[in-house]
Parts: sequence; structure tokens; C-alpha cells
Amino acid sequence: MRLMQHKKEAYWFYWYLSNFYDKFVNPLFWTARMRDESLSIAQLDSPGLKVIDVGSGTGFTTQGIVEHVPASQVTCVDQSPHQMSKAKRKADLQGCTFLLGDAENIPFPTDSFDRYVSAGSIEYWPDPQKGVTESYRVIKPGGIALLIGPLEPVNRFSRFIADTWMLFPKDSEYREWYKNAGFTDIQVRYVRPAWYRSKVEYGIAIAGRKPAPGESPYVAPAKAPVEEGPLTLGRRLQLIWRVVAGSTAGFLFIPGALIGYLRTAFDQRGQDIPAKYREGLNGYQITALLVIAAIIGGIVWRVL
Ligand SMILES: C[S@@+](CC[C@H](N)C(=O)[O-])C[C@H]1O[C@@H](n2cnc3c(N)ncnc32)[C@H](O)[C@@H]1O
Repeated sequence: MRLMQHKKEAYWFYWYLSNFYDKFVNPLFWTARMRDESLSIAQLDSPGLKVIDVGSGTGFTTQGIVEHVPASQVTCVDQSPHQMSKAKRKADLQGCTFLLGDAENIPFPTDSFDRYVSAGSIEYWPDPQKGVTESYRVIKPGGIALLIGPLEPVNRFSRFIADTWMLFPKDSEYREWYKNAGFTDIQVRYVRPAWYRSKVEYGIAIAGRKPAPGESPYVAPAKAPVEEGPLTLGRRLQLIWRVVAGSTAGFLFIPGALIGYLRTAFDQRGQDIPAKYREGLNGYQITALLVIAAIIGGIVWRVL
């Protein structure tokens, strides 16, 4: 299990990251174009659909959902109150139902929703198959579950830091979890930000239909529960170490994305791209870069 692939670690990670998530971090890796391309396979084709967004965070993906379905039809579930408090402030999400809860034990009865969406959350689930099986359980027969997540990097260094940080599953694992859960009509779409130029796929959106009412036919093999026990001193120290080391590993992806954005800064000029799909550094990110450059420049100036 990766450093951040634990519920308490993910909780404390988002305790501080929620303050930078929307403005600085998320737009580097998960863009409006990627989100809307992914949502297309969830078939949000009727305003009457009841949708659950699991691991909804600050509501970035939910904002894509409410472009198709009224907010009053959308339920957001996340285990982080810090992330959720940001979502609750967004004007277009007024009317959504917000509930703290766990993706692996969704606090709703079987056969409750027409659509299930979860974006960028599986990376933190200790038992991903359980999360996928839960997505099957909570949707109605004929309903569709959409899961979006990163793919295992092929580059050895990227794979090392990804595996240290959190779960970056293989393409085949996503498909296997969906098949095991009992989904039919499985569809896949690959997504990537404009700065990412590799031949290797970056992220996956996978959707499947629930063929029959009730719980998933999947029977989990008997094994010890994945989650940890009480917060002893040793466990607290382990938690702090994992959050610090896991965050450091995660932040190592930021320079690559920034360089990618700077390299492609002028690529979208002259192209007929709607404003919301134009990908580039925003004012907050540019200001942060200038501040960091000024601090580094100041230090170098003092030292020399
Ligand atoms: C990268 S954010 C994605 C947020 C949002 N879906 C988006 O598109 O921006 C991951 C979210 O998953 C949540 N999360 C992690 N593990 C979870 C779990 N076991 N149950 C519910 N939410 C979880 C985190 O709190 C965080 O808000």
C-alpha cells in the first residue's frame, strides 16, 4: 500500500491541500476539458437523473455534472470536511446534497442513484475493488457508474514517485475491478492535459452499466481488514511520516507539469478553443511562480 493510500493519511493530506487545491494544484493535472470528456461516457442525458459524486472534494467534477443535471438531483460524498467546505461555497453547487462519507462504505441504500461518478479519488482507497463494488451497489439497475483516475506511469522515475505517493492503477486493473463488480457495457476513454505529450496514456475514464438490481455479485476473498486500528503514539508518528513523505513525492510531479505548461504556453494560440477549455497557468499559479523565483533570487543574491 502506498503512503497516501490510507483513509486517515488522505484526510490529513486534504486538511492542508484543500487550501491550494482549486487555485494551484488541481488545474495542473485535471482540467475542464478532461472532466467533460470523461463525463460524456456517463451519459448524463436527462435532467431527471439522480447522481452521486463520490470523493467529490471541492466540487470541480460536480460543477461539470450540474451542467447536465439540476444541483438538487446531485449528492456529493467525501470523507474530507475541509474539501467539502470549499464545494459548499460554490454558487453553482447550491442545492446539491453534501454528506461526509466513505467511498468504500457509501452511506446510501442499494439501488439509489441513476449515475455514480468518482474522479481522482480511487488513488486513496485502501481497497479499490471494494470502492468499485460499492459504486455498483448504490446505482439502480440500468444505471451507469463512471470512475476516473490516473494510470501507472511507464517512466521508471515517475513510477517510483507515483508508487510512493498513492495508487496509480494499471489500465487492466480498472477493467478487472469493473468486470469483477458485475458491470456490463464497459466503456473506456483516455484523458490527458494539453501539456502532457507522452505516447503513454495519462488518465482513464471507465464506465459500466448495472445489469440487475441488488448488490454486486462479487465475493471478496477472505482477508484481514485493510484499515488500521486506534491512533497510538506509534500510529500517529507513522501518519505524520506518511503525510510528509507522501506529500513530498506528490509535489515532485508539480515541476514537470509547470515545465509542460510553459513549453506549450503558446500552442493554443489561434486555435478555436472555448475559453473554459483553454489550458494554461492561471494568475494564482503565475503569481506563486514569480514569488518563488523572487525568494530564490533573493537567497542567491545574499549568498553570492
Ligand atoms: C483529487 S481529489 C478529487 C476531488 C474531485 N472529485 C475533483 O474532481 O476535483 C480526491 C478526493 O477524494 C477524497 N477521498 C479520498 N479517499 C476517500 C474515501 N475513502 N471516501 C471518500 N472520499 C475520499 C478526498 O478527500 C478528496 O477530496
